[in-house]
Amino acid sequence: MNAPPKRPVTPAVSAARTAPLELGVIVPTFKEAPNVAPLLEKLEAALQGVVWQAIFVDDDSPDGTAAVVKAIAARDPRVICLHRIGRRGLAGAVIEGALASAAPYVAVIDGDLQHDETLLPQMLKALQEGRADVVVGSRYLGVEGADASALGKTREAGSRLANWLGRRVLRADVTDPMSGFFMIRRELVEHVAPELATSGFKVLFDILASQKTPPRYLELPYEFRARHAGESKLDNGVVVQYLGLLAAKLSRDLISPRFIMFALVGLSGVGVNLAILRLLLHIGFAQAQLIAALGAMTSNYLINNAVTYRDKRKTGLALLTGYVRFVVLCSVPLAANVAVATMVYERGPSWWVAGVAGAIVAAVWNYVTTSRAVW
Ligand code: GDD
Ligand code: MN
Repeated sequence: MNAPPKRPVTPAVSAARTAPLELGVIVPTFKEAPNVAPLLEKLEAALQGVVWQAIFVDDDSPDGTAAVVKAIAARDPRVICLHRIGRRGLAGAVIEGALASAAPYVAVIDGDLQHDETLLPQMLKALQEGRADVVVGSRYLGVEGADASALGKTREAGSRLANWLGRRVLRADVTDPMSGFFMIRRELVEHVAPELATSGFKVLFDILASQKTPPRYLELPYEFRARHAGESKLDNGVVVQYLGLLAAKLSRDLISPRFIMFALVGLSGVGVNLAILRLLLHIGFAQAQLIAALGAMTSNYLINNAVTYRDKRKTGLALLTGYVRFVVLCSVPLAANVAVATMVYERGPSWWVAGVAGAIVAAVWNYVTTSRAVW
């Protein structure tokens, strides 16, 4: 008869209280402010009947993306903003978002409306019915449906090559292992989270390559749309980073992707060194070699800063102080290297063994010391 008066609750809150969370949608964002509201509208429309949440992981975008998300989150408890300070990196953002969700399934989707959110219910159904452990939105599956034309010609060719290499490493027949659009059982991410690279774009590939037992995939075709607003953050540095990740996976994680990149940059430095030496030989060998070594260190430092440590990239005054530290640290093995190489060279015929050994020792020293003291 006299039931206690009910407090009005918003539908979202009551739904969250009665039905358990089914899906966490992770949206990594960097400078996507104008895309936040349209994306949420699309998710809302696509996920009717599903108990979902959207976790935006924003790396303190200068355009105020986080503030836009929080303004909506203040009214809608399904929306969460992980606002990261002093960190950059798509892979790390995706991993943190997935780990922050309590949902049994997590989806990852770009914040720029390039991915087709209407695929999400189908993906969820496949996972819930146990038909797969991972469902990947593929830009390349079959002829009809899949379409990567919004990528642009060079990007498409590069993307296809990266996919081909990725398939060789995964030893699995996924058509788009580089996809940024997928859904997975959350525990699969948790199991391998400590091993995953936090920089770079290839988080799905990394998650799959790190699993002990090969996960069962399902791929669904979709059309890669043109970006809604803003611009892509995928540049050449990202591609080089991916090659490092591939090499690390080929070495079964014995060698870290960062070290591989660092060593590759060092190799380019050898080229710079030789070129300057040849050019300045007329001023005398010792002087020329000194300038050449400095030139190589400078180019190594700048490339490492832009590529190897792009997630911790230095600018302004920090770029300068880091440079001084880098040169000092890298000068140590340089002196030792030259001494050892000269000694071995004077004694035996295997000059190149001495050279290569010296280079490896120097690379390891440089890597270990500068990763601690510079970046
Ligand atoms: N938090 C965070 N931090 N988000 C980032 C960062 C970062 O450092 N860099 C990029 N993002 C976000 C973007 O805001 C966007 O929502 C999403 O990650 C993808 O970035 P885009 O810059 O739009 O990438 P794309 O469209 O060029 O690349 C597409 O293809 C790649 C494979 O070729 C995406 O689908 C990628 O996910 C995919 O790996
Ligand atoms: Mn994009």
